[in-house]
Order: sequence, then structure tokens, then C-alpha cells
Amino acid sequence: MKKTLIKHIKTLYQVESEPREKVAGKDMATLPLIEDAYLAIEGDTIVDFGPMTDLHGVTNWNDLDVIDADGKMVLPAWCDSHTHIVFAKTREGEFVDRIKGLSYQEIAAKGGGILNSAKRLRETSEEDLFQSAMQRIKEMVRTGTGAIEVKSGYGLTVESELKMLRVAKRLKEEAPVAIKSTFLGAHAIPAEYKDNRKGYIDLIVNEMIPAVADEGLAEYIDIFCEQGYFTNEETDRVLEAGAKYGMIPKIHVNQFSNTGGVQTGIKHNARTVDHLEEMGKEEIEALLKSNTMPVSLPSCSFFLSIPYTPAREIIDAGLPLAIATDYNPGSTPSGNIPFLLSLACIKQKLTPEEAINAVTLNGAYAMGLEKTHGSIAVGKKANLIITKEMDDIALIPYAFGSEHIDQTILNGQIQ
Ligand code: NIG
Ligand code: FE
Repeated sequence: MKKTLIKHIKTLYQVESEPREKVAGKDMATLPLIEDAYLAIEGDTIVDFGPMTDLHGVTNWNDLDVIDADGKMVLPAWCDSHTHIVFAKTREGEFVDRIKGLSYQEIAAKGGGILNSAKRLRETSEEDLFQSAMQRIKEMVRTGTGAIEVKSGYGLTVESELKMLRVAKRLKEEAPVAIKSTFLGAHAIPAEYKDNRKGYIDLIVNEMIPAVADEGLAEYIDIFCEQGYFTNEETDRVLEAGAKYGMIPKIHVNQFSNTGGVQTGIKHNARTVDHLEEMGKEEIEALLKSNTMPVSLPSCSFFLSIPYTPAREIIDAGLPLAIATDYNPGSTPSGNIPFLLSLACIKQKLTPEEAINAVTLNGAYAMGLEKTHGSIAVGKKANLIITKEMDDIALIPYAFGSEHIDQTILNGQIQ
């Protein structure tokens, strides 16, 4: 089995002797660390780590690959818990329309938006969708991502939703990153059902969910619970139907308006509620009484020029927070987590440590990967970032747009 030793690490971050599930409130301000450290990998697994002064024994291994990380930081690879990376075409035409004054909702109302992506996706082969999603993953790996949640939701027919999720399944088998998949048939009402909403919900409940479950294609179920998309009652119906097949909710709520979607998600024991640009005190109170993880998507706020999730209030209330990219062709055409860290620090007033917790351990929890990803612990996957030489980890969010990552290691392999 391949053995690798990373030595003279300037600072090894997010180390755990007692594995934690997630980090909340004040604890988010701290990243447990070891200065001047080593880390040992066997196969795809972290087998040992500690201060250089304790490095005995492992140096006796035969065929040991040694990486000298002098002056560099090592972190767990980022965990991106919310993406829509399986899509057919970028939508830069809509981007220009928005520059000229149209809103995201106005573009959607005239057949753009999600329905535009659905039309393109139906015309695109499974192979082409796979190849383009794989390219996106490769680009994400270069900026340090090691685990990705992938949603359907640009199919909006039984066949096309299955096609998207089959692509996600193949990515799971062939991409170097860990992948979790989410069924998002309730992303928008397709044009064919414009005057028959109930008919589309019936299709999701009676045909799509059983077909997705039959092929074992999704761990999670999602719905865009939002004015102009799906109501709380429709959300109840879809999530109940998914639960019958063991699909756990991770839902889009409170992006443009507050219609009680957070409480609906909590009622269904959602793993996460995502977006949360529009939040009140009641939502924070409700989250405090639940196990549901709030997820912020700051690059969506940046791209659409909408409010940012009140991340500071969420953390100060004692809650955990995960941050994810939302990589998709409409509201966030980027999977760049270092840029997200800058947004979280600059626009949401998180400290670099809080932002890093939000995209490592809490990101892993947000997609049910906290036992294997998101921190440096013996037995966890060797999914790691080696930074370029730096004096302070705050350089990553500070020098936005620069390349800070030297190498990404996934499953023990340098990428
Ligand atoms: O998370 N809000 C809903 N879905 C995506 C956007 C999808 C699109 O515009 O294609 C989001 O922002
Ligand atoms: Fe999304």
C-alpha cells in the first residue's frame, strides 16, 4: 500500500483526537492546530499525525513518499455541500440581461432561468453532461475541494431527472472527490405544467421519487421553497414522499422572501436549510431547537447582488454554520472556495477561522460526511490541502483571487 509522509508542516489545521460532528457558536472561532507537524498517510487514509518532535517509527517505512511542506500550511480539503454542477450550458446571456436591469425573477418569468437550463439539459446526452461536470470537478479540485454534493433539478421530467442523477452516480465512481447526490425534481414548475401545478407535484411524488429510489440514485431530497416556485404545503408533500424512501431533506429556503420555509424544513428534520438570505429572529430560534444545519451561499449573494445570509447573527446565537458555493449556471457560476472565504470574511464578517470551519467540518456535516471528511483525524480520508508558503492562514481570504493552494491530495493521491 502506498505510504506518504508530509513533514515540516508549518501549521497543521483542524486536527482532532476526539472527532467532532460539527462546530457551533463560539467554537467556530477556533481551529485546533499543531505547529511544525507531520502527517502520515497509508493508502487513502490518515494514519498518524503530530508534532515533528514526536516523529518516530514511521520513517522506517519502505517505499515511503516524503513531501516536505516547509513554510506551508496543511488543511482538510474543502467540503462543498451545495452544488448544481451537472448542467448543459452556461447562461451568460442572462448575466448581461441582469446588468441591463432585469431581475433574476423577471428573467425566470420570461422562460429564462431554471427552465432555460432544463430545456438545454433535455437536449444534451448523458455522456456530454458527464464530461462537462467532470471538467468542473477538476477545476474545483485545483482550488482545494475534496467533497461535493450534486443536485438534479434541471431535468424536470422523469427521464431527464434520472439522466442527471445517473451522471452524478458515474461521477461518484470516477471522480477523485467524495460525492453525495440530491434529488431536486421540485426546482421549478416546468412549462408543460404551467397551468397544472398539482399535476407536476403528483409526477414528482408518484413517479420521480420511486424511480430515483429504485435505482438508488439520491441520498437527499431538495425543493426550492420560495415565492414563485414551491409553497410550504407542496414542500410538505414532496418531503414526506421522499422520507418514505429514506431520502433526507436538504432544502432551498428564504432566498428572496421569508415564507416560513426554515420552519418547514425543521419540521421534516432537514439535514440543512440553505440560502437564508432573508431571515428573522424566529428562524434563528427555531434552528436553535433543531439539529438542522444552516447553510450560507455567499457567492450567490455576490453574483445576484442580493443580501448576504446574516452569518454573524447565526453564529453569535450559538448555531453552527456551513458555507457552500451553490455552483450553478444561473446564480453562481463558480466553484471557487477560496473566493467564498473572502466573501465570508469581507461581507459576512466571519473571522478566517470561522469561515474555514464552515467549509471543512461543517460542510462535511451538511452532506453527511462528517465521519470521514472535513478534519484531520486518524482513520479519516487523506483529503488534504497543502498551501503555498505563507505566514498566516488569513492570507487566503485576504488576498482574494490569488492562488494559495500548492497541492490537493485526495484519497492519499496528489492531484
Ligand atoms: O440555488 N435557487 C434555486 N436554485 C439555484 C439557482 C438555479 C438557477 O438559476 O439555475 C440556486 O441559486
Ligand atoms: Fe442551489
